[in-house]
Amino acid sequence: MAFIDGLHTFDQVYRDLINVSNHMTDGGIIAIHDILPEEPSHATKNITNSIWAGDVWKLLYPLTDWSGEVRFSFVKPTGMVVLPAHKDIARFLTNRYEDDIERYSEATWEDYLKIKESLING
Ligand SMILES: C[S@@+](CC[C@H](N)C(=O)[O-])C[C@H]1O[C@@H](n2cnc3c(N)ncnc32)[C@H](O)[C@@H]1O
Repeated sequence: MAFIDGLHTFDQVYRDLINVSNHMTDGGIIAIHDILPEEPSHATKNITNSIWAGDVWKLLYPLTDWSGEVRFSFVKPTGMVVLPAHKDIARFLTNRYEDDIERYSEATWEDYLKIKESLING
């Protein structure tokens, strides 16, 4: 099992997920903390002295596009996602990493609310 909970930035967590997926046995469990923040003040790009989830939430874009199993949990205060490790997801993410960083780095809290809503309502 891997628990990704280090530097709470989109690009770093994205790379953490690629790297652990590449090194784990397929079917191992990966959990990523801080992906479903509840407050915009917790989701700032730069670190704060309060609860800080950063912009980890932008991983929702590739993870909702991924066709494999992904379980989101709204556990307070900043949420969690759990998924099985697989070399296929490492490849899938590696192939789109650069594009996703360019496309989503400037996404806003309003964008987050939209993708969160689509998660809840399908
Ligand atoms: C949110 S805390 C979580 C710690 C642990 N997972 C826990 O639940 O207690 C994140 C930790 O990652 C460390 N960290 C952040 N960025 C890092 C980096 N680039 N390299 C190594 N450690 C880092 C921080 O210093 C902090 O100890």
